[in-house]
Amino acid sequence: MLYQTYLQIHLGNIRANIQEIQKRVGANRKVMLALKANAYGHGAVQVARMAEEIGIDWFGVATVPEGIALREAGVKANILKFGPVFQDAIEAAMLHDITLTVCDKENAQTLQTVAAQLGKHAKIHLKVDTGMGRIGVSVPEAPELARFIEQDCPDLDLEGIYTHLPVSDIKDQSYTKAQVERFKKVIEEIETKLSREIAWKHCANSGAVLGHEDAWLNMVRPGIMLYGYYPDKETPHTVPLKPGLSFYSSVIFVKKVRAGTPIGYGQTWVAPRDTWIATIPAGYGDGFNRLLSNRGRVLINGRSYPVVGRVCMDQSMVDLGPETDVKVEDIVVLIGKSGEEEITCDEMADLLDTITYEITSQINPRVIRYYDEDGVRD
Ligand SMILES: Cc1ncc(COP(=O)(O)O)c(C=O)c1O
Repeated sequence: MLYQTYLQIHLGNIRANIQEIQKRVGANRKVMLALKANAYGHGAVQVARMAEEIGIDWFGVATVPEGIALREAGVKANILKFGPVFQDAIEAAMLHDITLTVCDKENAQTLQTVAAQLGKHAKIHLKVDTGMGRIGVSVPEAPELARFIEQDCPDLDLEGIYTHLPVSDIKDQSYTKAQVERFKKVIEEIETKLSREIAWKHCANSGAVLGHEDAWLNMVRPGIMLYGYYPDKETPHTVPLKPGLSFYSSVIFVKKVRAGTPIGYGQTWVAPRDTWIATIPAGYGDGFNRLLSNRGRVLINGRSYPVVGRVCMDQSMVDLGPETDVKVEDIVVLIGKSGEEEITCDEMADLLDTITYEITSQINPRVIRYYDEDGVRD
């Protein structure tokens, strides 16, 4: 085995999740897949290729290089860069046919100038801040910005308008409902001002796909649910989801230690009895978080073992107990199933007081990704 720590990406499960989303929102709506941060760690190119095969033709990325990487891999679908683009990246983005986000007049003017220089028509989506407080033109200023793009930027094609929903995943639906109403109203105002329809209107992240039918418009924009996780425990589980990945390592060293033996940096764990310790070649340099020190657990041959001592950059130790048959090269499950036992991504996120988004997107590039089709480890 060249790689001792690896991810098994369950592409078949991700495909099934996408198809469940399509079923929920209906065939008359587009589904734009959020593929930013390497598809939340799952591999943007592989997810995009699989998704194109089942007819998905919209992807969202966070950066221009993420979009270019998809183009260089042969992805033909529309790619929207969420968020404004820096001046230096505009030309590359346009040459790679990446749809750009506009939030203000200055940015629109700069995009127009570059598009004219390149002799290209650039597709853009207008981002409106209806209550996220992150980026976007304010609601009162949005119609004038739309007019400016339409009338004063002849090389920009305003084909989309979108907003983002910060609390679509919680039980209290009132804030999101008000936001969606605001968004619909501003779309109406813009369409009246331009005397035409905007082709694509979108705001539904996973929380809204699951719980806010009024937010679906003619395109939805899910991320985390593609990969098999609900954005929050409170979000209605209206779509069945299957996990997009399992995270594996292997035992590289087993030793018996006497009671009183300190283990690892800082000597934060001292063997309370004679015991067997396994070392695994996965640490925070792989995305196995250091906060799992003395708190996390792993599965080996269907049994659960606690992480003892501090998680190192490349290695971690687990306590196998006084009797063990665990041996070098046994598979270690960091996230996933082993026999009857399972460590879910949600369990790890809860333990680390974070969200599944952070767990999967922080599994580092040196961890090789293997892609299966049927969800079974090969
Ligand atoms: C602009 C935008 N749209 C859609 C998404 C997908 O959100 P989620 O992963 O919660 O479905 C994100 C991710 O946060 C985003 O930033």
